[in-house]
Amino acid sequence: MLLHSTPFKATCISFAKKPNCSFPLFLAPMEGVGDQSFRKAIASIGGFDEAVRDFLRVSAQPHLKSLASQYQHDEIAPVPLAAQLMGSDVTFMAEMARELELKGAPRIDLNCGCPSNTVTGKGAGSSLLKNPQWLYEVARCMVKAVSIPVTAKLRSGFEDTSLFKENLLAAQESGISYLTLHPRTKLEGYGPPANWELIAEAKTLLSIPVVGNGDILTVSDALNMVKQTSCDAVMIGRGSIINPFIFQEMKAHFAGRVYQPKWSALVRYFEQFFQATPAHIPEKTKINKLKQLLGFFFKSNEFLLTKRQEILRFQCDHYSALLELAYSYIKKSWQKQT
Ligand SMILES: Cc1cc2nc3c(=O)[nH]c(=O)nc-3n(C[C@H](O)[C@H](O)[C@H](O)COP(=O)(O)O)c2cc1C
Repeated sequence: MLLHSTPFKATCISFAKKPNCSFPLFLAPMEGVGDQSFRKAIASIGGFDEAVRDFLRVSAQPHLKSLASQYQHDEIAPVPLAAQLMGSDVTFMAEMARELELKGAPRIDLNCGCPSNTVTGKGAGSSLLKNPQWLYEVARCMVKAVSIPVTAKLRSGFEDTSLFKENLLAAQESGISYLTLHPRTKLEGYGPPANWELIAEAKTLLSIPVVGNGDILTVSDALNMVKQTSCDAVMIGRGSIINPFIFQEMKAHFAGRVYQPKWSALVRYFEQFFQATPAHIPEKTKINKLKQLLGFFFKSNEFLLTKRQEILRFQCDHYSALLELAYSYIKKSWQKQT
């Protein structure tokens, strides 16, 4: 099985080793939290080399054009934004990949990790990990459909890791350019620590680049992951909502500097967040979106952690009152740190 010879496609991100030991940095797709408002906000701080949009769900009867219209390749230009597809129908996945290529996507990622039961019940997301041959077929149909790079983002398994190797090899065999590994099974959800040893194992098994993902909260975490696993790049999700400066801290580290976040950059971050939030949505929704963002941000240091519940419970009629309160605590915590 799976022993066809398939050409690899060029990648848009270079994984070539750099003299300063730097490596590419990816912003993770995060459906619900990491939406367009968040991406535009964090892009105003910058530091990452590419972002992946949260998944577009290719359902049983997809309206491909309207689905594709949700993707904008220049949303955070000049930083490239890859599109991600979740689905399991080879015909529709191929057609959708073609639509996205026409829309200027620099690459298309196949979601093999979403744990949601509504998704997995339809054989998509992490369900693909139950059947390596099917994972191969879905990835292969996308690779054949487009001339841009196709990649895949995998968890380490569905219920367990018994098909871990087979899934990785099936993905590679399909002709994808590289893969991202979040080393937790679907069953584990976000519970136990990500098992970085599996990223190291993937590196020994595969010849395509491997992007390591899972539980990176600091610059040291990222450096440790690369050191321990030899992965070619890292992807950061929740850590970037907790600390939106993390990518700039990484870049400064690569340049032998220490990054000092500026207050003006933080204000711009929140301004961008609201500028990118549709004006017509109810104020209550805006406040809840801000609470979601602050709920992560207020985990970034011990002082903010003590204020997190107050922020989450705060009642107001306009988001600016909540933001003002948040600013007052963030300012205090930054003063404490200097
Ligand atoms: C709220 C949320 C939404 C997510 N949505 C997606 C998604 O759309 N596609 C995907 O491949 N992974 C998704 N993930 C998984 C993340 O991309 C990432 O693999 C995971 O959070 C582990 O990385 P981290 O520890 O850096 O957050 C999501 C994670 C979270 C927390």
